[in-house]
Amino acid sequence: MSSNDEAPRETQLDHTLRPHRWDEYVGQEHVKQNLRVLLAAARERAHAPEHTLLYGPPGLGKTTLAHLIAEELGAPLKSTAGPVIERVGDLAAVLTNLEPGSVLFIDEIHRMNKAVEEVLYPAMEAGKLDIIIGKGPSARTIELQLPPFTLIGATTRIGLISSPLRSRFSGGVFQLNFYTTEEIGTIIRRSAGILHTEIDDAAVQKIAERSRKTPRTANYLLKRARDVAQLDRSMITAAVSERALAMLGIDEAGLLPSDRKILAALIEKFNGGPVGLKTLAAASAEEEQTIEDVYEPYLLQEGFIERTPRGRMVTERARAHIAHTA
Ligand SMILES: Nc1ncnc2c1ncn2[C@@H]1O[C@H](COP(=O)(O)OP(=O)(O)O)[C@@H](O)[C@H]1O
Ligand SMILES: [Mg+2]
Repeated sequence: MSSNDEAPRETQLDHTLRPHRWDEYVGQEHVKQNLRVLLAAARERAHAPEHTLLYGPPGLGKTTLAHLIAEELGAPLKSTAGPVIERVGDLAAVLTNLEPGSVLFIDEIHRMNKAVEEVLYPAMEAGKLDIIIGKGPSARTIELQLPPFTLIGATTRIGLISSPLRSRFSGGVFQLNFYTTEEIGTIIRRSAGILHTEIDDAAVQKIAERSRKTPRTANYLLKRARDVAQLDRSMITAAVSERALAMLGIDEAGLLPSDRKILAALIEKFNGGPVGLKTLAAASAEEEQTIEDVYEPYLLQEGFIERTPRGRMVTERARAHIAHTA
């Protein structure tokens, strides 16, 4: 699942609960601090801030940061995504139509094709667009000067960003990390307020612990718990949350049925590994990309699997967990 394939409902939820001020954006202090210096310095020089790349697993707040940056600058935000910019002409149209000082957000920037990417280099570096007109011997290049802009790129796969592209993010390349349970708890309380739903402390704690340290997941689980609470004519309590989590098949470690299927396949079919991604994908009936983008980051972070040069391996924690939840 890429952030582009999300159900519209989920996208709507992201929008409603998205922080609009820096003080509502919980955690990621290192990234926030760097961005604020970058923005303040640019403002003093009356210059568009330098291009910045944000990376990390889905749902950690990359898109939200791009919106906050534009809001802080009072600049228009133009949002697009790597797979949407199919041809050089698509990119040229986006760039030439930017209002001066705009923030251009390119999500899933690792999925942009090579030809488009190469046109982006001079645009990022020198604010220039080189367009080839015509074909064969009569072809000629014209150079357009672009309005000043700030590119914010986002990716779940930093390893797929070419080094020429990466080096042009002169404002910095920032990693978003998983959140602490306390931070997720703060996000849940804020979201409950926006959704006008009552929740007690034990329920906040329970949902926070099962949210894979990810704000989007926390908001999603809060919504499901709210549904159960509503039908019960109750506030959200620990018992209500537990029922919602059980219905979704989310266990005490926050793992989904699909996570457990991946771990079980590794243990049962490959004796714990190491096994290559392709083989694992086939054995667990998941797509390779989904395993790498969505499931694996959390399983690695929590020490359920390890990556070795020969493939993925389960850990003792995974064996104990699967034995206990099976
Ligand atoms: N630091 C944060 N503080 C509060 N809410 C957050 C934070 N980061 C993300 N969220 C919430 O999680 C949702 C998903 O964040 P988003 O920026 O879309 O993630 P990404 O673009 O990295 O996939 C947002 O709509 C927002 O409600
Ligand atoms: Mg996003």
